[in-house]
Formats: sequence, C-alpha cells, structure tokens
Amino acid sequence: MNRFGEPPDPDFDAINRSLDVDSRLWPFDVAQSRAHVSMLAAQGIISAEDAGLITDALTAVEGELEAGLFPFEASDEDIHMAIERRVSEIAGEAGGRIHTARSRNDQVATDLALFTRQAAADTIIEIERLIAALTDAAEAHLDWPLPGYTHLQRAQPVYLSHHLLAYVWMLQRDRQRFEFVASQCTLLPLGSGALAGVNFNTDRRRVADELGFEGVSPNSLDAVSNRDFVVDYLSAAALCATHLSRLGGELVLWSSQEFGFVELPDRWTSGSSRMPQKKNPDAGELLRAKAPRVVGDLSSFLGVLHGLPLAYNKDMQEDKEYLFDAVDTMQLTLAAARGMIEGASFERERMAAAAADGMIAATDLADLLVRRGVPFRQSHEIVGQMVRETLAADRQLSSLSLEQLQSYSPELDDEAIALLAQDGWLESKASEGGTALARVREQLAAARELLG
Ligand code: ARG
Repeated sequence: MNRFGEPPDPDFDAINRSLDVDSRLWPFDVAQSRAHVSMLAAQGIISAEDAGLITDALTAVEGELEAGLFPFEASDEDIHMAIERRVSEIAGEAGGRIHTARSRNDQVATDLALFTRQAAADTIIEIERLIAALTDAAEAHLDWPLPGYTHLQRAQPVYLSHHLLAYVWMLQRDRQRFEFVASQCTLLPLGSGALAGVNFNTDRRRVADELGFEGVSPNSLDAVSNRDFVVDYLSAAALCATHLSRLGGELVLWSSQEFGFVELPDRWTSGSSRMPQKKNPDAGELLRAKAPRVVGDLSSFLGVLHGLPLAYNKDMQEDKEYLFDAVDTMQLTLAAARGMIEGASFERERMAAAAADGMIAATDLADLLVRRGVPFRQSHEIVGQMVRETLAADRQLSSLSLEQLQSYSPELDDEAIALLAQDGWLESKASEGGTALARVREQLAAARELLG
C-alpha cells in the first residue's frame, strides 16, 4: 500500500520508465551504493551487520548484471529502483535500508557524473589514437605535394603531411575540451538528498574519496539539478564530430575518380549491389552525416534544460538518451576515421600532377611583383589579367616567355621564369606554421610531443 489508489496507466508507465536506457549505468550505481552503505555504517546510521548484508547483496546483483542474468521486472521503472528491489529480495529487511539518507535525485546525478567522467576518458583515448594515426600518415607522406584549396579551387600547393597535420591540431583542441569535461565531474552530488540535504550525520567526503571525486558539491539544489557536465560532453562531442565530418568529406572527395588522390582500404568501403565497378566511401559519408546528429543531441538537451525551475525535474531523465547517443557516436566515428586513415593509400602521381598546375603559382608571382615595389592590389590585377589571357589561349603560366612576361610588367624577369618552374612553390612557404619541409618537420615534432 502506498499513496496511490490505482496502478499506473500503461501509457504513463511507457513514457515514464527509463530502464531500457539507463540500465547501462548499473556499474556506477552499484559502486556508489557500496560507498554509500559503507559510509552509513561508519557513521553509525545503519548497523555493521545490515551494511554487510547489503554489500553482499550488491555483489550478488553485480554478478547477475554482469552475466546478463539479472531478473528485471515489469515494475522496475529505472535501474536505481531495479537494483534496490533486488538488493531487498536478497538481503531481506536490511535491503530496505540502502536508500537511507539518499534520493534518486542525488543518486542519478552521481551515476551520471561517474559515467561522464569515464566516457570523457574513453573518448580521449580514441582521439589520441586518431592523432597518432594522422601523425604517422603525415610522417609517411612528408614531401608529397598536392594542391591546397580555397573555395574548392586550386589555390597553392602544400605537402600532404601539412594537410594531415591540420587535423591533428583540431583533434588536439578536442582532446583539451574533453579534458575539461572530465574536470567538470569532480564534485560529488551524493548526499544532497532530494534537493535540500539530508537529515542524517553523513560523511560526504568519505564517499567522495571512495568514488574518486575531488570534493563534494557545495549546494544541494545545484547538485541535483546540475547537468552542465552533460552539456559539456555534448558540446565537445558536437565540435569533434564536426571536425570528423570535414575529414570524412575530404576522404569522399579525394577517393572520387575526379580527384583520385586516395584509395580507401577495402575493409572500410562497400560495393554497389547494382554497379560492380563501384567502391563506395560509406564510412567517410557517415562521418559527415553523424556530425549533425551529435549537434542535434546538444541542441535537444539544451532545449530540455531551458527554463527548468530548480531543482530536479523529470525532464532531466531525458539527458541519458542524448548523452549515450553522443558517447556511442564518438566512439564509432573516431574509430572509423582512424581505420580509414590507417588504411588509406595516397596516389602520389595524381596529387603531384594536380599540384603542378602552373596557375597555382599566380599568388607567388604577385608576391614577386610586390617585392619589386609594385603595390599588392596592382600586382593582383596584373597577374589576374595574365591568368585570364593565358587560360584563354589554353596555355600554362610556365609557358610564357620572358618577353611575354615583361609585356605585363617590366618588373618580371628571370626570377619570375624560375618561380613559374614550380620547384620553389612549396619551399618558399617557410614562415612559421607554413608548408615548407623544414617547417612541417618542426610541426611533426610538435605533434609527436602531444602524445608524449
Ligand atoms: N530515472 C530518473 C532519472 O533518470 C531517476 C530520478 C528520479 N527522481 C524522481 N524524483 N522521480 O532522472
């Protein structure tokens, strides 16, 4: 008998229950229950004997959950209630004491903080693996030129190593963001009770120590309604997934016959059921498509939190759907990106031929005029006209004679001829962070340092 005179409507039960989603929190729920019960006994709030019975029951429950033999029941609304019910079945009356000085509100906040801390650490490991794969690929293709693009138009040549390392720096920033996420899961919510604190002489610091928290939350209302760390994970994930979508997008382009810069490994591609010649870059395409999904997790959950009065509201139960989806998507997309990079075979000739397009020396030619004292705007115009007329004649800039060059500007001399002969295009980009080999080597060393 309790407060209710009738059983829940089946549809109410369906919308209200979270067990199917939150059952994966069980390892954290068991761990926090152990720490909680041992603190209750140490503080004399429950007897040592009851604590022993509950702890043994928790061990049995842990074994059942691990083995997939836990007897879930239709009445188990969420994982917290399921575990408590089962502990009571096993430990008898003592089991009824496990929830002393605790509420599901501080309980779920604690499970989730433990989960998010672990998820951030796992995501960081995957990011580091991808950084290592990209760095290895950069080293293996140190001096392979390809065009660098702006507006997807050939702009200036760069080395493939330089291009791959660009992703390393994006991922390094992602890694730092996930480190921040972990730093936001360091204060223990447990002990805040339903919202106002508890009526018992608990020792929160002891529980915090046992569960690896650095301290305890300073405000019980904030503690039970704080899901900032979930938002932090989702926002770090949204940006990381967006970075991966750019990598995926480039692999899709580069593996097309039009580019032909890369062949992806068979084990990371699929065939067509209709067209036998095809090898599709599905994983790259899915890297593109998963990013908006994670961004959706972030914006949906911010929507859930928006305008919520303090403290706990059932709305917050939805946090797990978004968080778990983002965590799983990150694991999958980071592994897919690494698999493709590790197995990619780059086509040196195709990239070099595209990079040899004489038109991409146009900026260097304009810079030469600037060094000769011509204002940049004017030199931009001179070279622009030269490009237009040369293209109209179906020729390359490198085919222009000294005389023809000088008809555009008397400042164009033998150095312009040499510059158009290609060799110097990349090596002249020797500014810090530029694509010249010496600079890329510095960058590669710095990238290696990242992983220690
Ligand atoms: N399943 C709930 C959740 O995930 C646990 C907390 C329920 N608290 C409550 N007062 N009904 O948010």
